[in-house]
Amino acid sequence: MTRIESLLRKAIGLDAASIGSSMIQRTVRLRMKQLGLSKTEDYERLLQSSSTALADLIEAVVVTETWFFRDREPFTVFAQMATQWLAQHSAGTLRALSIPCSSGEEPYSLAMALLDVPLLPHRFLIDGVDISQRALERARHAVYGRNSFRGKDLSFRERHFRHTRGGYVLNPIVRQCVHFHQENLLDEGFLANSPPYDFIFCRNLLIYFDRATQVRALEKLHHLLSDDGVLFVGPAELPLVTGHGFVSAQLPMSFACRKMTTPAVTSSPPRSSSRSSVRSKSDTAQRAASPQADAPAAGLPARASTGVHRTPAPPNELEAARQLADAGRHEDAVALCEAHLRRSGPSAQAYYLLGLLSDARGDANASDYYRKALYLEPNHYETLLHMTLLLEKNGDSAGASTLRQRLKRATKQQERTVDQATRVAGGKPA
Ligand SMILES: C[S@@+](CC[C@H](N)C(=O)[O-])C[C@H]1O[C@@H](n2cnc3c(N)ncnc32)[C@H](O)[C@@H]1O
Repeated sequence: MTRIESLLRKAIGLDAASIGSSMIQRTVRLRMKQLGLSKTEDYERLLQSSSTALADLIEAVVVTETWFFRDREPFTVFAQMATQWLAQHSAGTLRALSIPCSSGEEPYSLAMALLDVPLLPHRFLIDGVDISQRALERARHAVYGRNSFRGKDLSFRERHFRHTRGGYVLNPIVRQCVHFHQENLLDEGFLANSPPYDFIFCRNLLIYFDRATQVRALEKLHHLLSDDGVLFVGPAELPLVTGHGFVSAQLPMSFACRKMTTPAVTSSPPRSSSRSSVRSKSDTAQRAASPQADAPAAGLPARASTGVHRTPAPPNELEAARQLADAGRHEDAVALCEAHLRRSGPSAQAYYLLGLLSDARGDANASDYYRKALYLEPNHYETLLHMTLLLEKNGDSAGASTLRQRLKRATKQQERTVDQATRVAGGKPA
């Protein structure tokens, strides 16, 4: 059986531990029964010699679970950033990729989010990519059952679907916004000739890969994302991504990342249309979303004051440290944060950045830094977010759940700030 697991790992990067060996065994037994085979060795030989047999096993083993507006916040943030992008690129067409798109709920949600802004369909292009032919057939058919609609706010269903006896039929205007392709993210030639994307949604795929495959996948995504682009990953995937060519975009609950420019990672392919900077405007939102980023040392609690005379730190020193971190100059960023602490005394933002840098290295000190930041600023949003993810990654679900409650309260505050920033940027139809 382990030989079949190795075959699956090689073909689609599947880490057997992620779904459980027993699940793979059950699927294999079922496939063998359907094929009238009784010996595992015979099935192994068939899998090695027949691409159809392997494709059928892949179809049976992949987890295609998905639903419309899954996690909600990433779609809200995406629509806001897309609006800004289109306002900046008056003649440009925005390109978005959903990989893996499964049965289409995710890329169609992207399209609905943009149409609801409202943005006109000719201003954007959305590709949906998945390895599963069956899931793609369902995506193209675009008729959905109740399972695809979860959560409380289903108002989009009234706007974009027609209820029939056979299910909810998606309106043609949304369907026409999305183009589907069958591809394996791990293939050598994966979207090799594609121009870069401004936004990539790659959610709930990396969790099924082992570490080496995650790194390979991230290299491909890095190559496909424009230099100013934004990558959205799943809630459990942000810690897997940061430090591997990407840094958190620090947008509330959206699990979005931007490229960290390091010489080790290849840059995105050239694109013919003008594409100056989604970053300049999105940074406005990011800065608004990170009110502590420029927090002055004077905002520290009394315990920071020890009576020792401190030389005032240059303004924006911590912002400079963040930029060094984004540029992959981690050691310089750490040195600047430490110098800042020596000069100005305890600072939640400095400890947060040190935590983030340790986290990116997979260093055990990360939680100590996060704890210090939270001691100084119990509602420090980004620290709460990253500490929650770290606890989840380390299997401390009770600790993560307590922090998640605090995070929810901090999120409400953050959402109000982002809303204000978006209103300032203007939300008219592009
Ligand atoms: C859980 S779904 C995620 C769908 C959607 N992104 C979401 O978050 O709701 C995982 C999908 O990954 C696809 N998949 C697995 N391995 C893949 C690979 N190597 N290349 C492309 N798609 C893959 C599966 O077919 C499945 O549809």
